Amino acid sequence: MEKGKLLYEGKAKKVFETENPELLIVSYKDDATAFNGLKKGTIQGKGVINNRMSNALMRLLASKGIPTHFVEELSERDTLVKKVQIVPLEVIIRNISAGSFAKHYGVEEGIVFDKPTIEFSYKNDELGDPLLNDYHALALKLATPEEIDTIKDYSFRINEALKEFWLSCGVTLVDFKLEFGRLADGTIVLADEISPDTCRLWDSATGKKLDKDRFRRDLGGVEDAYQEIMGRLEEHMGK
Ligand code: TMP
Ligand code: ASP
Repeated sequence: MEKGKLLYEGKAKKVFETENPELLIVSYKDDATAFNGLKKGTIQGKGVINNRMSNALMRLLASKGIPTHFVEELSERDTLVKKVQIVPLEVIIRNISAGSFAKHYGVEEGIVFDKPTIEFSYKNDELGDPLLNDYHALALKLATPEEIDTIKDYSFRINEALKEFWLSCGVTLVDFKLEFGRLADGTIVLADEISPDTCRLWDSATGKKLDKDRFRRDLGGVEDAYQEIMGRLEEHMGK
Protein backbone atom coordinates (compact mmCIF):
# COMPACT_ATOMS: atom_id res chain seq x y z
CA MET A 1 0.00 0.00 0.00
CA GLU A 2 1.43 3.39 -1.06
CA LYS A 3 1.04 6.76 0.66
CA GLY A 4 -1.35 9.05 -1.18
CA LYS A 5 -2.26 12.63 -0.33
CA LEU A 6 -1.26 14.02 3.07
CA LEU A 7 -4.58 14.29 4.87
CA TYR A 8 -3.45 15.73 8.18
CA GLU A 9 -0.29 16.54 10.08
CA GLY A 10 -0.48 16.44 13.85
CA LYS A 11 2.11 17.05 16.55
CA ALA A 12 3.60 13.56 16.44
CA LYS A 13 2.14 11.91 13.33
CA LYS A 14 1.23 12.45 9.72
CA VAL A 15 -1.79 10.77 8.16
CA PHE A 16 -1.93 9.87 4.46
CA GLU A 17 -4.74 8.69 2.24
CA THR A 18 -4.35 5.39 0.39
CA GLU A 19 -5.98 4.02 -2.76
CA ASN A 20 -8.52 2.35 -0.46
CA PRO A 21 -10.95 4.96 0.94
CA GLU A 22 -11.38 2.88 4.10
CA LEU A 23 -7.66 2.76 4.94
CA LEU A 24 -5.09 5.37 5.95
CA ILE A 25 -1.35 5.33 6.55
CA VAL A 26 -0.11 6.82 9.80
CA SER A 27 3.54 7.94 9.83
CA TYR A 28 5.19 8.53 13.21
CA LYS A 29 7.57 11.50 13.61
CA ASP A 30 10.32 12.17 16.16
CA ASP A 31 8.75 15.55 17.00
CA ALA A 32 7.63 15.98 20.57
CA THR A 33 5.47 18.68 22.10
CA ALA A 34 4.12 19.26 25.58
CA PHE A 35 1.75 21.68 27.30
CA ASN A 36 -0.45 22.00 24.22
CA GLY A 37 2.46 22.65 21.88
CA LEU A 38 4.15 25.30 24.07
CA LYS A 39 7.25 23.14 24.51
CA LYS A 40 8.73 21.69 21.34
CA GLY A 41 11.57 19.29 20.71
CA THR A 42 12.78 16.16 19.03
CA ILE A 43 13.23 12.74 20.57
CA GLN A 44 15.57 10.82 18.23
CA GLY A 45 14.08 7.48 17.25
CA LYS A 46 10.76 8.11 19.02
CA GLY A 47 8.68 7.64 15.89
CA VAL A 48 10.08 4.17 15.30
CA ILE A 49 9.53 3.14 18.91
CA ASN A 50 6.02 4.57 19.19
CA ASN A 51 4.97 2.96 15.92
CA ARG A 52 6.24 -0.49 16.89
CA MET A 53 5.06 -0.28 20.51
CA SER A 54 1.60 0.97 19.66
CA ASN A 55 1.16 -1.78 17.08
CA ALA A 56 2.37 -4.50 19.45
CA LEU A 57 0.01 -3.29 22.19
CA MET A 58 -2.94 -2.98 19.80
CA ARG A 59 -2.32 -6.57 18.63
CA LEU A 60 -2.31 -7.67 22.27
CA LEU A 61 -5.58 -5.81 22.92
CA ALA A 62 -7.18 -7.24 19.77
CA SER A 63 -6.35 -10.72 21.10
CA LYS A 64 -8.33 -9.78 24.23
CA GLY A 65 -11.40 -8.77 22.21
CA ILE A 66 -10.85 -5.02 21.95
CA PRO A 67 -11.46 -3.79 18.39
CA THR A 68 -8.74 -1.43 17.14
CA HIS A 69 -7.91 0.57 14.02
CA PHE A 70 -4.66 -1.40 13.46
CA VAL A 71 -4.34 -3.24 10.13
CA GLU A 72 -0.66 -3.77 9.27
CA GLU A 73 2.79 -2.41 10.11
CA LEU A 74 4.24 -1.24 6.78
CA SER A 75 7.68 -0.03 7.88
CA GLU A 76 9.51 1.22 10.96
CA ARG A 77 7.48 4.43 11.03
CA ASP A 78 4.42 3.66 8.91
CA THR A 79 1.28 1.72 9.74
CA LEU A 80 -1.86 0.95 7.80
CA VAL A 81 -4.97 1.68 9.86
CA LYS A 82 -8.71 1.70 9.34
CA LYS A 83 -10.09 5.13 8.59
CA VAL A 84 -12.17 6.35 11.51
CA GLN A 85 -13.97 9.47 12.55
CA ILE A 86 -12.25 10.33 15.84
CA VAL A 87 -14.60 10.75 18.81
CA PRO A 88 -13.38 14.11 20.15
CA LEU A 89 -12.83 12.81 23.67
CA GLU A 90 -9.49 12.03 25.28
CA VAL A 91 -10.03 9.25 27.78
CA ILE A 92 -7.61 9.15 30.69
CA ILE A 93 -7.36 6.17 33.00
CA ARG A 94 -5.29 6.43 36.16
CA ASN A 95 -4.09 3.74 38.55
CA ILE A 96 -1.71 5.93 40.57
CA SER A 97 -1.68 9.68 41.25
CA ALA A 98 0.57 11.69 38.94
CA GLY A 99 0.61 14.66 36.60
CA SER A 100 -2.51 16.81 36.41
CA PHE A 101 -4.34 14.64 38.98
CA ALA A 102 -1.68 15.32 41.62
CA LYS A 103 -1.72 19.01 40.70
CA HIS A 104 -5.53 19.47 40.64
CA TYR A 105 -6.13 17.72 43.94
CA GLY A 106 -2.97 18.83 45.74
CA VAL A 107 -1.60 15.35 46.44
CA GLU A 108 1.81 13.81 45.87
CA GLU A 109 2.52 11.51 42.96
CA GLY A 110 2.59 7.77 43.61
CA ILE A 111 -0.62 7.20 45.62
CA VAL A 112 -1.97 3.82 44.49
CA PHE A 113 -5.74 3.98 43.98
CA ASP A 114 -8.10 1.24 45.21
CA LYS A 115 -9.92 1.49 41.86
CA PRO A 116 -8.78 3.07 38.59
CA THR A 117 -10.27 6.45 37.71
CA ILE A 118 -11.58 7.59 34.34
CA GLU A 119 -11.83 11.13 33.05
CA PHE A 120 -12.65 12.71 29.73
CA SER A 121 -11.35 15.81 28.13
CA TYR A 122 -12.73 17.54 25.07
CA LYS A 123 -10.19 17.06 22.27
CA ASN A 124 -9.88 20.67 21.21
CA ASP A 125 -6.44 22.31 21.12
CA GLU A 126 -7.84 25.84 20.89
CA LEU A 127 -9.66 25.35 24.18
CA GLY A 128 -6.71 23.48 25.74
CA ASP A 129 -8.51 20.10 25.94
CA PRO A 130 -10.84 21.05 28.82
CA LEU A 131 -11.96 18.34 31.23
CA LEU A 132 -15.60 17.30 30.96
CA ASN A 133 -17.95 14.64 32.28
CA ASP A 134 -20.43 12.32 30.53
CA TYR A 135 -23.24 14.87 30.79
CA HIS A 136 -21.12 17.56 29.16
CA ALA A 137 -20.06 15.17 26.40
CA LEU A 138 -23.74 14.38 25.74
CA ALA A 139 -24.75 18.06 25.87
CA LEU A 140 -22.04 18.85 23.31
CA LYS A 141 -23.17 15.82 21.23
CA LEU A 142 -19.60 14.50 21.17
CA ALA A 143 -20.86 10.92 21.52
CA THR A 144 -24.08 9.01 22.18
CA PRO A 145 -24.86 7.42 25.58
CA GLU A 146 -24.22 3.97 24.06
CA GLU A 147 -20.87 5.09 22.65
CA ILE A 148 -19.84 6.50 26.04
CA ASP A 149 -20.75 3.19 27.73
CA THR A 150 -18.72 1.25 25.15
CA ILE A 151 -15.76 3.60 25.48
CA LYS A 152 -15.76 3.27 29.29
CA ASP A 153 -16.06 -0.52 29.13
CA TYR A 154 -13.20 -0.82 26.61
CA SER A 155 -11.03 1.67 28.51
CA PHE A 156 -11.19 -0.27 31.81
CA ARG A 157 -10.61 -3.58 29.97
CA ILE A 158 -7.64 -2.03 28.17
CA ASN A 159 -6.29 -0.89 31.54
CA GLU A 160 -6.46 -4.43 32.96
CA ALA A 161 -4.74 -5.93 29.92
CA LEU A 162 -2.01 -3.27 29.76
CA LYS A 163 -1.40 -3.26 33.53
CA GLU A 164 -0.88 -7.02 33.46
CA PHE A 165 1.39 -6.89 30.42
CA TRP A 166 3.57 -4.06 31.78
CA LEU A 167 3.81 -5.77 35.16
CA SER A 168 5.31 -8.80 33.40
CA CYS A 169 7.97 -6.37 32.06
CA GLY A 170 8.71 -4.99 35.54
CA VAL A 171 6.91 -1.77 34.68
CA THR A 172 4.05 -0.06 36.51
CA LEU A 173 1.31 1.46 34.36
CA VAL A 174 0.53 4.71 36.19
CA ASP A 175 -1.91 6.34 33.76
CA PHE A 176 -2.59 6.71 30.05
CA LYS A 177 -4.69 8.46 27.43
CA LEU A 178 -6.83 6.74 24.80
CA GLU A 179 -8.74 7.92 21.76
CA PHE A 180 -11.53 6.07 20.01
CA GLY A 181 -12.99 6.34 16.54
CA ARG A 182 -16.06 5.32 14.59
CA LEU A 183 -15.81 3.12 11.52
CA ALA A 184 -18.12 3.91 8.58
CA ASP A 185 -20.75 1.56 10.07
CA GLY A 186 -20.55 3.30 13.47
CA THR A 187 -18.52 0.60 15.26
CA ILE A 188 -16.35 2.07 18.02
CA VAL A 189 -12.68 1.04 17.78
CA LEU A 190 -9.53 2.01 19.67
CA ALA A 191 -7.55 4.51 17.56
CA ASP A 192 -4.56 6.88 17.85
CA GLU A 193 -1.57 5.35 19.68
CA ILE A 194 -0.46 3.73 22.91
CA SER A 195 3.14 4.68 23.55
CA PRO A 196 5.48 6.35 26.06
CA ASP A 197 4.04 9.63 24.70
CA THR A 198 0.57 8.71 25.95
CA CYS A 199 1.29 6.56 29.03
CA ARG A 200 3.15 7.03 32.30
CA LEU A 201 5.36 3.99 32.78
CA TRP A 202 7.51 3.65 35.90
CA ASP A 203 10.12 0.97 36.52
CA SER A 204 8.47 -1.16 39.22
CA ALA A 205 11.71 -1.68 41.14
CA THR A 206 13.26 1.80 41.03
CA GLY A 207 10.36 4.09 40.13
CA LYS A 208 12.39 5.47 37.22
CA LYS A 209 10.20 7.26 34.70
CA LEU A 210 10.34 5.52 31.31
CA ASP A 211 8.03 7.84 29.38
CA LYS A 212 7.50 11.33 27.99
CA ASP A 213 7.57 12.94 31.44
CA ARG A 214 11.37 12.92 31.00
CA PHE A 215 10.85 15.36 28.09
CA ARG A 216 7.98 17.33 29.69
CA ARG A 217 9.96 17.86 32.91
CA ASP A 218 13.49 18.13 31.44
CA LEU A 219 14.69 15.09 33.37
CA GLY A 220 17.29 14.10 30.75
CA GLY A 221 17.93 10.64 29.33
CA VAL A 222 14.80 10.90 27.16
CA GLU A 223 16.05 8.80 24.21
CA ASP A 224 17.54 6.19 26.56
CA ALA A 225 14.24 5.85 28.41
CA TYR A 226 12.32 5.27 25.16
CA GLN A 227 14.90 2.65 24.13
CA GLU A 228 14.73 0.99 27.53
CA ILE A 229 10.94 0.72 27.62
CA MET A 230 10.89 -0.64 24.06
CA GLY A 231 13.54 -3.21 25.02
CA ARG A 232 11.41 -4.32 27.98
CA LEU A 233 8.38 -4.72 25.73
CA GLU A 234 10.29 -6.74 23.14
CA GLU A 235 11.74 -9.03 25.81
CA HIS A 236 8.31 -9.88 27.20
CA MET A 237 5.95 -9.71 24.22
CA GLY A 238 4.60 -13.12 23.36
CA LYS A 239 5.86 -14.79 26.56
P1 TMP B 1 -2.04 14.34 32.79
O1 TMP B 1 -1.68 13.84 34.16
O2 TMP B 1 -1.13 15.43 32.30
O3 TMP B 1 -3.48 14.70 32.70
O4 TMP B 1 -1.81 13.11 31.77
C1 TMP B 1 -2.45 11.88 31.97
C2 TMP B 1 -1.97 10.88 30.93
O5 TMP B 1 -2.36 11.25 29.63
C3 TMP B 1 -0.44 10.74 30.87
O6 TMP B 1 -0.14 9.35 30.75
C4 TMP B 1 -0.03 11.47 29.62
C5 TMP B 1 -1.25 11.39 28.75
N1 TMP B 1 -1.46 12.60 27.95
C6 TMP B 1 -1.48 12.52 26.57
O7 TMP B 1 -1.30 11.44 26.01
N2 TMP B 1 -1.71 13.65 25.86
C7 TMP B 1 -1.93 14.86 26.44
O8 TMP B 1 -2.12 15.84 25.73
C8 TMP B 1 -1.91 14.92 27.87
C9 TMP B 1 -2.14 16.23 28.57
C10 TMP B 1 -1.68 13.77 28.58
N1 ASP C 1 0.84 16.11 23.37
C1 ASP C 1 0.44 17.21 24.15
C2 ASP C 1 0.91 18.53 23.58
O1 ASP C 1 1.59 18.82 22.75
C3 ASP C 1 0.78 17.23 25.59
C4 ASP C 1 1.53 16.18 26.29
O2 ASP C 1 1.69 15.06 25.86
O3 ASP C 1 2.00 16.51 27.40
O4 ASP C 1 0.65 19.51 24.01
